[in-house]
Amino acid sequence: MRTAPAMGEPPLLSVRELRCGYGGKPVLQGVDLDVGAGEIVAVIGRNGVGKSTLIKALIGLLPADAGSIRFRGAEISAVAAHRRARLGIGYVPQGRDVFPRMSVEENLAVGEAIGGGRTADYERMYRSFPILWERRRQVAGTMSGGQQQQLAIGRALVGRPALMLLDEPSEGIQPSIVQDIARIGVELNRQDGLTIVLVEQNIDMIRAMAQRCYVMDKGRMVAELTPEMLDDRDTVRRYLAV
Ligand SMILES: Nc1ncnc2c1ncn2[C@@H]1O[C@H](COP(=O)(O)OP(=O)(O)OP(=O)(O)O)[C@@H](O)[C@H]1O
Ligand SMILES: [Mg+2]
Repeated sequence: MRTAPAMGEPPLLSVRELRCGYGGKPVLQGVDLDVGAGEIVAVIGRNGVGKSTLIKALIGLLPADAGSIRFRGAEISAVAAHRRARLGIGYVPQGRDVFPRMSVEENLAVGEAIGGGRTADYERMYRSFPILWERRRQVAGTMSGGQQQQLAIGRALVGRPALMLLDEPSEGIQPSIVQDIARIGVELNRQDGLTIVLVEQNIDMIRAMAQRCYVMDKGRMVAELTPEMLDDRDTVRRYLAV
């Protein structure tokens, strides 16, 4: 198992004392997070603790009120979202948010434009998600939830990110597709070195993918676990049960 990055090796992503919220309502209350290049790191926590808020702050959809976000050593907390995408951060939103009236291909073209300036890799993406090739002319809104989730991931992948932010990819998706997505995520990590931050409440998916796991509560990281520790029901109840 891969552990935290070695001393001296700067993390790909390093977050310190990050604070952010909505219209004066604080949500993130000083988040610290390190993700080494080549890692898959999970973030778990109950509903409403701030997981999606963290992901949105990392990609730049929400401005940071305080604190630091470093990507490849450079401070990006004041960099616009589209620039962060071009620096190599891919984003798969909770609920997928594919463009429902556009075809699969058109959705992917938006992802390519967002990753702009980096050479798109459709071939690699279609190899991961052959269903998207088969359905490339289909209108996205008519596909199943699992297919739309694969499209949302594919849309982020064509921009060739170094870091992928995945916000609850298993939500509302049948278990067999969850397993497929987990397997493909691990493949992209092992074969292409894709680093992943995985927000999840699905323990099976975390166990299949993650090497480390942060627990979030009330806008802070309150524990760091190995995924094996999630096999213990008391641990899961303590950190996830309402
Ligand atoms: N657009 C918004 N405007 C105001 N408050 C918001 C907004 N989005 C989220 N919040 C609030 O911020 C807090 C954190 O929400 P967030 O979506 O980050 O939680 P989460 O951990 O992702 O939850 P879930 O597991 O349900 O997705 C919650 O109290 C939520 O009500
Ligand atoms: Mg969320």
